Amino acid sequence: MSAQLIDGKKIAADVRAEVAVGVQEMKERSRVTPGLAVVLVGDDPASAVYVRNKQRAALEVGMDAQDVRLPGDTSQEQLLGHVESLQSSPGFHGILVQLPLPDHIDERAVLDALDPLKDVDGLHPENMGRLAGGRPRFVPATPLGIQQMLVRTGRDPDGKRVVICGRSEIVGKPVALLLMQRAYGANATVTVCHTRTRGLAGITRQADILIAAIGSPASITADMVKEGVTVIDVGVNRVDAPERKSGYRLTGDVDFDGVSEKAAAITPVPGGVGPMTIAMLLHNTLTAARLAVNG
Ligand code: GUN
Repeated sequence: MSAQLIDGKKIAADVRAEVAVGVQEMKERSRVTPGLAVVLVGDDPASAVYVRNKQRAALEVGMDAQDVRLPGDTSQEQLLGHVESLQSSPGFHGILVQLPLPDHIDERAVLDALDPLKDVDGLHPENMGRLAGGRPRFVPATPLGIQQMLVRTGRDPDGKRVVICGRSEIVGKPVALLLMQRAYGANATVTVCHTRTRGLAGITRQADILIAAIGSPASITADMVKEGVTVIDVGVNRVDAPERKSGYRLTGDVDFDGVSEKAAAITPVPGGVGPMTIAMLLHNTLTAARLAVNG
């Protein structure tokens, strides 16, 4: 079998167009422009690209967007001060602090300090707790994007066996919670695997839908999947490519060539999950603005 490609760019463009309509309606009805603040500490090149793309995408759908870039030696207190002043501004309905943060900053302290009603990343413990408790408010953007890719291509996870490789707070854990909700686009039987999992391939071979969020290239190989699986590759790994001007290329966590021989459908890297993450961040920001306007 040669897998069908799940085109994240196309689906993300559809979502962004829907968000743009919502933004326009809000401007006309309430005279409010949804606003997003994005905070980056340090000069990690990959993070800088993500932050620029988030800001650009927000502006493109008609939102206000500001990115705040702070030097790598910014103290935790200084960062908390910036977060407080941005989120107390009524012009910003959503705020996110790009992760990872430099080692001298306690990431949890920063997430705890976010206003849960403006936490469009869905990483504040209140929003995580609501998701775990079956009352989601803001769901992290990558899990939401994965769900939308499945649903919008006719691959509703309802009743399917979903295997997730990776237990991060930002992808693995929330996507497990999301897809096991008693709700449309969910109702899956979910298994989460991680670095301490024994007999990994025996578990991944049971997956109807396999979500790879491991963080190392080509970790899922053809022998680890069954025929007809749907594969969602969350990995974004830089690997050396001396023939390229940049000196690197992006590759996922899945051995794309091998796995796509067996899979029914697969997301490419780049052009799969990445664009969806940004689109769903915009969706969450519009939701935050609606919460502020309508209560
Ligand atoms: N770093 C990588 N992905 C994300 C994300 O979705 N949100 C934040 N805040 N940082 C990230």
